[in-house]
Amino acid sequence: MRFKKVQLENFRNHSESSLEFTPGVNLIIGGNAQGKTSILEALSYVCLTKSFLQQSDFTVPKFGTDLFAIEAAMEGDRSSLNHARIVYSSGTGKKYFLNRNEVRRSSEVIGMFPIVMLSPGDFALTTGSPAERRKFADMVLSQISRSYLEELVEYRRALKQRNKILLDGKISNILDKDMLAAWTDALVAHGSRVMTKREEFLSDFQETFKSAYSTLVESGEAPGLYYEPSFGSRDSVQDTFHKELERVSRVERARGATLVGPHRDDIRFVLNDRSLKEFASQGQHKTFLVALKIAEFHYIRKMLGETPVMLLDDVMTELDYRRATSTIGVISGLGQTFITATDMLSFDEKFLDTVSTRYHHVKEGSVVYEHVGI
Ligand SMILES: Nc1ncnc2c1ncn2[C@@H]1O[C@H](COP(=O)(O)OP(=O)(O)OP(=O)(O)O)[C@@H](O)[C@H]1O
Ligand SMILES: [Mg+2]
Repeated sequence: MRFKKVQLENFRNHSESSLEFTPGVNLIIGGNAQGKTSILEALSYVCLTKSFLQQSDFTVPKFGTDLFAIEAAMEGDRSSLNHARIVYSSGTGKKYFLNRNEVRRSSEVIGMFPIVMLSPGDFALTTGSPAERRKFADMVLSQISRSYLEELVEYRRALKQRNKILLDGKISNILDKDMLAAWTDALVAHGSRVMTKREEFLSDFQETFKSAYSTLVESGEAPGLYYEPSFGSRDSVQDTFHKELERVSRVERARGATLVGPHRDDIRFVLNDRSLKEFASQGQHKTFLVALKIAEFHYIRKMLGETPVMLLDDVMTELDYRRATSTIGVISGLGQTFITATDMLSFDEKFLDTVSTRYHHVKEGSVVYEHVGI
């Protein structure tokens, strides 16, 4: 798919901005704090119904206002046209309209307009906590499988309720055993399906990832990624999950929280059989991350039959020059790409020769100038 245009109203520092896009590379150029990332954030709202920066909706309306709106037009790989309108006000909350019909559940939209993002926050994926890696798996799976997203939502709901019962029990010394049993059943039912899907995904994703990595590195490095569930299961995941919860039940009551389940999963990243986190160089971490993102693109396209849009925020500052240009070179050939950069000087247009490029200059929350080519 590709974005054809977008209009922002009171979105961050943009009062009213309107942009038209090329199917090739869209370079969003401007100094610091002028409103570049905000444009990518608005596109992420269209695709994911929320901010990719994981910010709450109420932070988004332009200071001094209490509502924002986004309108966007998208074209699918098979030429289908879609129009999205998102409006938010502090009083009525957020509403998403697709072709003028209100969308009630975000799972109806997520996956229709697939995206792959690479932004400064993503560098925590290989260096940070397991939560970062779960987020990665969830982002890919949610876009390719509506049922996964629905299971995940239900799992989180059951987890929240179960934790509340355990915590209330700890504080009051009276445990509501019937309620606990009911939410344990829900937790196990949804959690087992989440774990099974993650397991299938990561073994399937392995090959796509290895070939993406090999396009970035000459040779001699063997990368891998492996699912590390919070518990291993020899028989059915569901039975083992129940047994594990029984095993830790005393500790759970003492702590007032659920201690096993997919909210404790991790993904182990390795390079030449050694843990990436412990042994890799900075540069190897960065290459690993870029390979994950390129593989994410290929995997989503294969599974959905729809080409994702790539959003690259600030890669010129996060990656060294050589890595940034080779990354942009590879990614810009894949499909529609959005790249933010503080200036055009650091930008080597040579690798963009073969794709159409459109420049959008942003200043103080306005798009001051748009042009094609240099
Ligand atoms: N709700 C809001 N209303 C008005 N301005 C906001 C709001 N939220 C954030 N801002 C400001 O909007 C400006 C633009 O932010 P944005 O992240 O888009 O900048 P940027 O061009 O990506 O900058 P950088 O190059 O530093 O990443 C910043 O000054 C930010 O503080
Ligand atoms: Mg920015």
